[in-house]
Amino acid sequence: MTTGDMRTRPMPNEIGTILFDESAIANRIQELANEIGEQNGSGEITIICALTGALIFTADLARKLESPVKIDCIRIESYGNHSSAVSTPEFSAPLKNGIKGKNVLIVDDILDTGHTLSALISYLKRLRPSSIRSCVLLDKPARREVEVNADFVGFTIPDQFVVGYGLDYAEQYRSLPYIATIDQSVAS
Ligand code: XMP
Repeated sequence: MTTGDMRTRPMPNEIGTILFDESAIANRIQELANEIGEQNGSGEITIICALTGALIFTADLARKLESPVKIDCIRIESYGNHSSAVSTPEFSAPLKNGIKGKNVLIVDDILDTGHTLSALISYLKRLRPSSIRSCVLLDKPARREVEVNADFVGFTIPDQFVVGYGLDYAEQYRSLPYIATIDQSVAS
């Protein structure tokens, strides 16, 4: 049998503790898809994927949703190569399609200070969608600076910098199949 579960993959030295492994993530994504489906009904969902961190999460979540889905992407620069937040996120790459009258679901990797999600919601509201909801894989409420919550949250985590499953440190570790803490003192 050649399943992905059977493979072993070397763990980079800088990786600390694995918080969520592949199966925990997959199970939670199925639950999130069910929750979203219950709230949304069978209508079309327009997913706005916040690049680059939410790329992998979006791909997996979208495939678990039973409603018809359209996907567009928006690029947001909040961190650059550093692990400290900047308070004014910049959006680049305009949406390919209009969202006027659409039921929008923002999908992001992590809700941290809240600046990114808050700015994204304000930006998208101006494009007059019928509704906007948000889904984040991770929530770090301890670091919140802006009053904003996501409608759907995968996992709530403490104030630790995490990588994997789309999340990076200086553009590394995005392809790790799990979410783990990182020892920034040894990461290059
Ligand atoms: P804010 O602070 O605006 O930040 O809510 C959201 C964005 O910050 C990045 N971020 C992280 N990236 N590990 C990461 O790889 C982390 O622990 C982390 N915390 C915040 C991320 O890009 C997110 O979209």
